[in-house]
Amino acid sequence: MQLLTPIQIGDLSLKNRVFMAPLTRVRADENHVAGDLIAEHYRQRASSGLLIAEATMVDGNARAFGLEPGIYSDAHAAGWKKVTDAVHAAGGRIILQLWHPGRATHQDLNGGRQPVSSSNKPIRNDHIHTPSGKQPYPTPRPLRTEEIAGYVELFRQGAVHAKAAGFDGIEIHGAHGYLIDQFLRDGVNDRTDRYGGSLENRARLLFEITDAVIGVWGAARVGVRISPLVAFNDMADSNAPALVEHVARGLQARGVAFLHLRAAQHDLPAEVELARLARQHFHGALIRNGGYTRDAAEADVRSGLADAVAFGMPYIANPDLPERFAQNAPLNQVNMATLYSPGPQGYTDYPALAR
Ligand code: FNR
Repeated sequence: MQLLTPIQIGDLSLKNRVFMAPLTRVRADENHVAGDLIAEHYRQRASSGLLIAEATMVDGNARAFGLEPGIYSDAHAAGWKKVTDAVHAAGGRIILQLWHPGRATHQDLNGGRQPVSSSNKPIRNDHIHTPSGKQPYPTPRPLRTEEIAGYVELFRQGAVHAKAAGFDGIEIHGAHGYLIDQFLRDGVNDRTDRYGGSLENRARLLFEITDAVIGVWGAARVGVRISPLVAFNDMADSNAPALVEHVARGLQARGVAFLHLRAAQHDLPAEVELARLARQHFHGALIRNGGYTRDAAEADVRSGLADAVAFGMPYIANPDLPERFAQNAPLNQVNMATLYSPGPQGYTDYPALAR
């Protein structure tokens, strides 16, 4: 299978094109420090060409889920070092997804601090779990222009700590309606300063963060994830193809290693069109994700629509996904009840194929 052949992405020599999509599983400790359980989870999946570790807080005042991991102190770096050491010892490669939730959180999770965003538009028709139960999303506070550099700095510091933690690179989370996406898409961003209005302005935060992370890592170990057609977190944009072209051109100019396009569903015609546009304007690696099966992934890698495919749900339940694909073996099914539960159940106890 083409999917199981090696690939060079920037500075990373990867053994196959079956990547693990970033998956929030809230198994860090109460200080958001990763530890042995998370290390074991990723170690079990080290046969993947590239593990993209879950959305990780760059801002200690902006948690959204509970026990998600962070990367904003030396203690976080030391916790993640256990993970990267375990993955490397097992022959794997692992990068970290740097994340800020923006408006997709609640003051009750963050010591009373009002969530921030590009605008004052809340997430409508959805709820967030807080210590006092399910609540509607609050109205966010639009960041003042002069505050934005401080948020770029949070990502830069996250990148510095991730380096100390021994990661192989960085994925910048520009998808799924979190902070960066709240600037990118015009369904939320109604700013009139240099971070709003034109596409150039809406992408400014993404590119300032990208440049800051490149300053720490070099472009050959940095990539960006976006999801222009994913509606999750009450997101929309009036012109997704233009957004993809602009982002692809900006990433090409910076020479980043990869663009990770998260599709609502990979074979929707509008999503295929975005992938073609990304290809046209960005010449680093294109990772695609969103509802892929083994055979669909193989077809897209063969046709050249993607260089590699990231798998989310399949990786939750199948630590040895490349081996299963090689043998065309059946897949374990995900237990939805243990996605976000504490402890090893549904996390490190999914069986690999018998040898
Ligand atoms: C996700 N997804 C996700 N995406 C992301 O960029 N960062 C994250 O931390 C998470 N966390 C997460 C947790 C869980 C439990 C799920 C199911 C999904 C989205 C994920 O990376 C992927 O885009 C989707 O699962 C779609 O891919 P599949 O599952 O169709 O292969």
